Amino acid sequence: MNSPFIYGKIASGEAFTDRKPEQKRLSDNIASGINSILISPRRWGKSSLVARVGQTLQRNTPGVRFCFLDLFNVRNEQEFYSHLTKEVMRVSFPKWKERIESAKHFFKQITPKFSVGIDPGSDFSVSLNWEEVRKSPEEVLNLPEIVSKERKIRLVVCLDEFQNIGFFDNPLTFQKKLRAHWQHHKLATYCLYGSKRHMMTELFENKSMPLYKFGDVLFLEKIPETYWVSFIKSGFKRTGKSISENLALQIARQMENHPYFVQQLAHTVWSATKKTCTEQEYRFSIETLLTQYAILFQREVDGLTNLQINFLKALCSNVTQFSAAETLHAYRLGTSGNVNRIKESLVNKEIIDITPQHIEFIDPLFKLWFSTVYMKQ
Ligand SMILES: Nc1ncnc2c1ncn2[C@@H]1O[C@H](COP(=O)(O)OP(=O)(O)OP(=O)(O)O)[C@@H](O)[C@H]1O
Ligand SMILES: [Mg+2]
Repeated sequence: MNSPFIYGKIASGEAFTDRKPEQKRLSDNIASGINSILISPRRWGKSSLVARVGQTLQRNTPGVRFCFLDLFNVRNEQEFYSHLTKEVMRVSFPKWKERIESAKHFFKQITPKFSVGIDPGSDFSVSLNWEEVRKSPEEVLNLPEIVSKERKIRLVVCLDEFQNIGFFDNPLTFQKKLRAHWQHHKLATYCLYGSKRHMMTELFENKSMPLYKFGDVLFLEKIPETYWVSFIKSGFKRTGKSISENLALQIARQMENHPYFVQQLAHTVWSATKKTCTEQEYRFSIETLLTQYAILFQREVDGLTNLQINFLKALCSNVTQFSAAETLHAYRLGTSGNVNRIKESLVNKEIIDITPQHIEFIDPLFKLWFSTVYMKQ
């Protein structure tokens, strides 16, 4: 039987829960032609949320078409332009022949070259002559708007891992080009999302940056535990098993409501459960996960300095005043000057996350391993 819990993939259908206000806000933005910027740490559900909004809108609003680009491995401006061209053309012109014909019509200065694979519907690539694109980038950047107008559709261009444009050769010049063209678009809207909060806020909230106030900035939160409890219970029920309110709550709490990890633990518990989940099956599942990841976590710790490890120990012990004299002493953190450097390095290693409210482990399973296995060694 298939597990009702999904992790590591886009959560959709019954595996998707909550996010009602966020779905509404994104849909309203799109309806009003407002661009959206979505920021959250990794695996909190950005891609799933945008995919869900895309699905709903495409089903209910005639003419709306979503086009998804992942900038995860797009490393330069050239690649960006060909990806954008490809996706806009693919989504707007399902028929291969039409796609080629229209390209001739939309591009005047640039001659895109299309090549086809086995299935021309999805398997094709576009290459652009960089010299031509450098002279007339507007032909690509305005494509979403021009195609929308021409096809009487409304394209929503979604760019995942947007902060990666920071790695382009001249990121600032590139951002200026985006702004200069995209700000005039009325039919096409943009949804830009990314997981590096610091880089994303710098791009969109720093007054001196070209994309300052480019759209409505939404900081995605974790999913509240009340949703998780009913989500987990109904996942069990749907598949002929059951779990108590209390154990469902423990799953959510143990994983600190982190979407990916709650789904992962829920799946592990579900797999271990014969019929009605017992306390023993729950504990066994936690052990299973900790054992499964032990080598990886040990390697992570091996790469840390003593000061960084001491800081994590303090964090596990719920210390909040890291620079207080007694903390520095009790956890051997050296001087208070050290503390900022340690925090910075742990943030860069993506082990902790610092928000104005608190400091927390990014990975709740690593935290659990660190406090229950590593610290007890
Ligand atoms: N609304 C949701 N309901 C239930 N589970 C969710 C939801 N959103 C995310 N998840 C869980 O979190 C996992 C990660 O989600 P997703 O890939 O959408 O996050 P992301 O923020 O785009 O991650 P990344 O930063 O790695 O791209 C999913 O596989 C799923 O297990
Ligand atoms: Mg994603």
